[in-house]
Amino acid sequence: MCGIVGAVAGADVVPVLLDGLKRLEYRGYDSAGVAVLMQGEIRRVRKIGRVAEMEQAVKEAGLAGTLGIGHTRWATHGGVTEPNAHPHVSNGQIAVVHNGIIENHDEEREKLKALGYVFESQTDTEVIAHLVHHHYQTSGNLFKAVRLSLIQLRGAYAIAVIAVDQPDRMVCARMGCPLLIGLGEGAHYVASDVSALLSATRRVVYLEEGDIAELTRDHLHIEDQHGRHTRRPLHVSDVSLSSLELGQFRHYMQKEIHEQPKALSDTIDQALEDGLTSTLFGPEAETILRDIEGVQILACGTSYYAGMVARYWLESIAGIPTNVEIASEYRYREVAANPRHLVVTLSQSGETLDTLEALKYAIALGHQATLSICNVRESAIPRASRMVFYTRAGAEIGVASTKAFTTQLVALFMLCVVIAKLRGRIDASKEAAYLDTLRHLPGSVQHALNLEPQICVWAEHFAQKSHALFLGRGVHYPIALEGALKLKEITYIHAEGYPAGELKHGPLALVDADMPVVVIAPNDALLEKVKSNMQEVRARGGELFVFADLDSHFGEQEGVHVIRTPRHVGLLSPVVHAIPVQLLAYNTALKRGTDVDKPRNLAKSVTVE
Ligand code: F6R
Repeated sequence: MCGIVGAVAGADVVPVLLDGLKRLEYRGYDSAGVAVLMQGEIRRVRKIGRVAEMEQAVKEAGLAGTLGIGHTRWATHGGVTEPNAHPHVSNGQIAVVHNGIIENHDEEREKLKALGYVFESQTDTEVIAHLVHHHYQTSGNLFKAVRLSLIQLRGAYAIAVIAVDQPDRMVCARMGCPLLIGLGEGAHYVASDVSALLSATRRVVYLEEGDIAELTRDHLHIEDQHGRHTRRPLHVSDVSLSSLELGQFRHYMQKEIHEQPKALSDTIDQALEDGLTSTLFGPEAETILRDIEGVQILACGTSYYAGMVARYWLESIAGIPTNVEIASEYRYREVAANPRHLVVTLSQSGETLDTLEALKYAIALGHQATLSICNVRESAIPRASRMVFYTRAGAEIGVASTKAFTTQLVALFMLCVVIAKLRGRIDASKEAAYLDTLRHLPGSVQHALNLEPQICVWAEHFAQKSHALFLGRGVHYPIALEGALKLKEITYIHAEGYPAGELKHGPLALVDADMPVVVIAPNDALLEKVKSNMQEVRARGGELFVFADLDSHFGEQEGVHVIRTPRHVGLLSPVVHAIPVQLLAYNTALKRGTDVDKPRNLAKSVTVE
C-alpha cells in the first residue's frame, strides 16, 4: 500500500527519494510524487501511474534540494488523480505525505474551510496539511504544530512533514502505521519500510505508536505519545539488496516461487541444528506453551489458508483444540474468549492492519499467550506479540504471496510438533521421523518446481477460460483455496476452491465442459474419496486437471489430465502441493499478459482495513 520516503541531507536528496520510491513499488500503488525544498519554495511533482513516469517529470522539472519527501499512493479517499496524489501542500508552505486513514477528516475539513482553507483534493491527507499549516501560523514551531494537529485527528497515520521556511528540518509521526528513521552520515531519512533506504543506510530506528520525531541533518529528537523525550534502539538491517533485485527472473513472483527450496531450508535450519524444541519460539515459549488449552489462529488471505492447514496438524498431532479465523471478522465479533488459548497471528508483512487489530483485541480479551509468525523483522505484529518466530523467506516483493506461505507452513508444523512434545503426544522416534521429513522437504519442493514445463501446457488451456474450480480434501482443502486465490488475483480468472466432498451440495451445478476443475489428489487416506468426487465431475462433462502423487497410480483418460507430483511426503504434503498451483497461476498469468507482480487493485501490505 502507500509508501513514504524522506530525507534531510547535505547533498541533493532527489536520487534517494526516487530510488526509495522504486523500492517501495512492490507494496502496490497507483500514483507517486515528491516535494523538495528548492530556491526557497516547495516544488512538487506528482503523476498517476508508475514511479518511472514521475521520475521523468522530476528530471524535466530539474528538481533538486537537500530536504524532500516522496510517496507512492494506493487510493482510498478519492480516485486515482493527480490532485489526490501526495505530497499535499498547504498554501505553498507546508508539505505532507501520509499513510493510513484519518477517520474524522470530514469534520476537520469543515472547520478548516470555515477558517478559509481551500481544498484541492478529495483526500483525508490534505486535512493534515492545512491543519499543520494552521497551527504553524500560530505557534511558529513545526514540531509543536504537528503535535497540535495530531491531537485533533483520529485514525491511523504515518506522516512526514516539511515547511518552506525550515530548510534543515523534517517532522515525522506514527500511529497505527509503520515508520522508521534511517541514520546516515550527516543525513537523516524516513521511510515506511526499510527496503526504501537500503541504498542510503542500514542503520535504522523504528518509531513506536504515538512517537513524533524531528530530524535535521545531524540531530534526531524523538518524543513519545506523552511528550517525553525518548530514545529508540538502533537496528542494523540484514535485508540484502540482492533479495530485492530480479536477477535472471522475469518477475518477482517467478523468482520467489523458485526460491522456495532455499527459503524452506533456511527456515527449517535452526530446528535441524537444535531439534524441535520450544526455544525456536523464544526463551519464554516452554513456560507459555506448556499451559495452553487451545490455539486461536488469526490471519488474512493466504496467511489464513496457512492457518487452516495448521488446524489439521494441531488437532491430529498435538491433540489441541484449534480455531482459525479471518482477522477482519474476529476483530469485530463478540468473542467468547478463553484466555488460556494461545493466539497465533500469521502475517508475511507483519503490517496487515486487520491482523494487528485482531491481535490487540485478543489481548484486550485477556489472551496473554501470543505468538507472531512473520517474515518481516521488527514489523508491527511481532512487536505487539509476546513470542515471535521469523520465517526466513527473504524479502517477498510480488504481491501474490508464495514463499512466505510455504515457510509459514513449516513454521506452523514445527510449532505443532513442539506443542505435541510438551503434551506428551509424541516420542523421540516420532520427532526424529518429523525432522527427517522436514530435512527432505526442500528436495521434494524442488522436484515439484521441475514440473513447470508440464504445467505450462495446462496454463495455455486455462488462459482461455473465464472460470475454474479447485478441489481438495482434508489438509489439502486449504491448498485448493490457495490455488483458486492465486489464479484469481494474478490472472483475473474467476476461481473457487471447495472441499471436494461439498461439490454435490451446490457447486456441481457450475460444472460443464467450459469449467476446468483442478484436483489436489495426494496419496493419503482420502484418496479414494477424492476419486469418487472426480467421477461426479466427469459424469457432468467436466474436464479434470489432477495433481497426483507419484505413488498414487493415477491414469490419464479422456477428460482427465494428470501431472505427477513427488512421492507422498506425509503430513507436509500441503507444502509440496502448494507449488504446482502457484506455477499454474503464474504461467496462466504470463499467457494472459497480466501484470503478475502488481495485479490490479491489490497491494502487498494491507495497512488499511
Ligand atoms: C495473496 C496474498 C494476500 C496476503 C494477505 C495477508 O497472495 O498475498 O492474501 O496473504 O493480504 O498478508 P500478510 O500475510 O502480509 O498479513
